Amino acid sequence: MELLGIDIGGSGIKGAIVNAATGELVTERLRLPSPPTFQPDEVVAVVADLVKQFNYSGPIGVGFPGVVMHGTVVAPPTALAFPNWVGVNLAERVSAAVGCPVTVGNDADVAAMAEMFFGAGRGETGVVMMFTLGTGIGSALFINGHIVPNTEMGRVYPRDSKKTIEQLASDRVREEQKLSWKEWGEKLNDYFKYIELLFYPDVIIIGGGVSKKHEKFFPHIKVRARLIPAAFRNEAGIVGAAMAALDQIAPQPWELPGAGHSEG
Ligand code: BGC
Repeated sequence: MELLGIDIGGSGIKGAIVNAATGELVTERLRLPSPPTFQPDEVVAVVADLVKQFNYSGPIGVGFPGVVMHGTVVAPPTALAFPNWVGVNLAERVSAAVGCPVTVGNDADVAAMAEMFFGAGRGETGVVMMFTLGTGIGSALFINGHIVPNTEMGRVYPRDSKKTIEQLASDRVREEQKLSWKEWGEKLNDYFKYIELLFYPDVIIIGGGVSKKHEKFFPHIKVRARLIPAAFRNEAGIVGAAMAALDQIAPQPWELPGAGHSEG
């Protein structure tokens, strides 16, 4: 089934129509810039604009860069620090704006579902974690293909630090601080070693646009887990959002517990 998947990010809001049963994009990806002040009304308006550009009517899946429970944003995007998102029922707001059923989940969770079922994690069992390295750091945790939603591992504070790992080692920070691959890789190494101490994942999948340059920083990350780059790169969020929407129509092998749905 072909559904519209939308990935809301700090710098761009991207979408494509996806065959959510195979993970394939059936249209070009469209991208509109995110409103710099990232207010809920503004973001909803850009999403509605994107839906219009696809001339689309039908179920829509949306990934959002914050904690989302039952369609409502309960913790704002930390990397963007816009607190007035708390309590916004994004599923309802978008479906009211576009007149379509809308399903909303955390961006890293939906991206990880795409990787797990159609990408780098395909066929993996046991404990699999995925991290998206971008404006922020997103995380996802699977046990035998079942996701534990909203894990938010980018909010971890390294020892003696007043900043979260996301504020110290996201890809945005790498760019802003002009960190070398080695410097950045070593920061990530400390972080993933700590994650390993907490969860002992069998596999760690690294996503986000920078994962295409994985050979530059993977050598500095010395974890016991198998470290693999994402297969979808920047499209995982779009594909996974459409997958979450499909699961609301008919139960799929994947499921995002607590994904919020509004019929519009
Ligand atoms: C948010 C997460 C999100 C991640 C990646 C963080 O700032 O807290 O919910 O998954 O950014 O966008």
